[in-house]
Amino acid sequence: MLRSSHPLNDFFVASNPIGPPDPILGVTEAFKKDANTLKMNLGVGAYRDDQGKPYVLPSVRTAEQRLTAQALDKEYLGITGHGDYVRLAAELAYGSDSAPLAEGRVAAVQSLSGTGALRIGGAFLQRFYQHKKIWMPTPTWGNHGAIFRDCGLETGSYAYYDKATCGLDFEGMKADLAKIPDGSVVLLHACAHNPTGVDPTEAQWRELSRLVRDKGHVAFFDMAYQGFASGDTVKDAFALRHFVAEGHQVLLAQSFAKNMGLYGERVGLFSLVAAEKEEKTRVESQLKILVRPMYSNPPLTGPRIVSAILADDALRAQWLDEVKGMADRIIAMRTQLKDHLVNTFHSTKSWDHITDQIGMFCYTGLTPEQVDRLKSEFSIYLTRDGRISIAGITSGNVKRLAEGIAAVTRD
Ligand SMILES: Cc1ncc(COP(=O)(O)O)c(C=O)c1O
Repeated sequence: MLRSSHPLNDFFVASNPIGPPDPILGVTEAFKKDANTLKMNLGVGAYRDDQGKPYVLPSVRTAEQRLTAQALDKEYLGITGHGDYVRLAAELAYGSDSAPLAEGRVAAVQSLSGTGALRIGGAFLQRFYQHKKIWMPTPTWGNHGAIFRDCGLETGSYAYYDKATCGLDFEGMKADLAKIPDGSVVLLHACAHNPTGVDPTEAQWRELSRLVRDKGHVAFFDMAYQGFASGDTVKDAFALRHFVAEGHQVLLAQSFAKNMGLYGERVGLFSLVAAEKEEKTRVESQLKILVRPMYSNPPLTGPRIVSAILADDALRAQWLDEVKGMADRIIAMRTQLKDHLVNTFHSTKSWDHITDQIGMFCYTGLTPEQVDRLKSEFSIYLTRDGRISIAGITSGNVKRLAEGIAAVTRD
C-alpha cells in the first residue's frame, strides 16, 4: 500500500481519476448480480455449447494429452516464437500454396493472441510507416481504437454499417476509402465483422482490393474468426488471400482464441507480406527489436497445442469438423431466433439481418432503451449498441429471447 505522503501516490491521486469500466465486462457484472434463474448473458464474446457452458474442443484435449505424455521442457521460446507454429499458422491463413510463403517473404512473429498481433502491427507502423494514422470501420471492435492509440497512432474512421438496412454501407465505404490520403493504412475485418456480423461479399472484396490498390493504401487485416464464421477456414480467408494474390503487401493479425477455443492461452500471429526475401529479413529483425522490450518472448503452451493439431492430418481433420460444428450451431441459433420472432411471436419487423449476418455477433438494431427494457423486464443482458453474442443462445433459451425482443420492439 502506498502511504498518502508517498510522492508517487500524491502524483497518482492528484492527477488520475478512476477510469471507466469496460462496457462489455460491465454487462457481465450486472448479469452476475441478477437472481433470476432464467437470466441470459449475451454480452460475452466467447463460444458456449448448447447447454450454455464453455467448450474445450476435443481435438485440443487430445493435443494436450499428447503433449503431457511427451513431458516436454519449459525453456524460453525465441523472440519470434515457436518455429513450427509460426509456419503452420501462416499457412492456415495464407494457404499452403501461397506464393509469398513459398518465396520466403512473409515476416511473422508469434503474438499474445489477436490483440497482441494488432499491437505489434500498430507499433511497427508507428515506428516505420510514413502515415501515423490508421482508418477503421464504423463501428469496429471496441478495443481497436485503444490498441492503436496506445501505439501512438491516430485513428480515423470509414463508413461501414448501414443502420437502415442492418447491412453493409458499401457505397459509403468506397467513397470514404477513395477520399482518404493515398497510402493510408486501412484496417479490415477479414471475416465475421465484430460487432456487426456484416461482411462484404466476395464480389465486393474484389472491388475493394482494386480500390485499395489504386489508392496505394496498405491493408491491415484482423482475422480473429477464421473458420468460425462459415465453418470453413478456406472460405473465411477469401478476402486475405484475394488481396495477397492481387499483389497487396498486407499486414495480418491472427488469433486462435475463437476457432480453437484457446481464449486464455493467448496464441496468435502477426505477419507482414514483404516485397522480397531480403525485405522480410529486415522487417523480422525490426519486429524482434519491438517485441523484446514489450514481453521478451511469447508463451509456450498455446503454440504447442496449435501445432500438434495442424501438423497431424487426422487431428487437423477432427479440428476442422469441430470448427464447423461451432459455426453450424451459431447459424442454427440465428435461424431459430428469427423463426420464433416471426412465427411464434408474430413480430412484423424485418429480421432477415439476423440470418444474413455472420459469425459470433448479431447487430440486432435494438435501441439503447429497448436493451434497457430487455434487462429490466426479461433479465436479458447485452451491450447498449444492441449487439448480441449468438454464442450465448441455446435451444433452451432462444424462444425466451425471441419473446423479449418481440415485446420490446412492438409498436
Ligand atoms: C475483431 C476482433 N479482433 C481481435 C480480437 C482479439 O481477441 P484475442 O486477443 O482474444 O485473440 C477480437 C476478440 O474479440 C475481435 O473480436
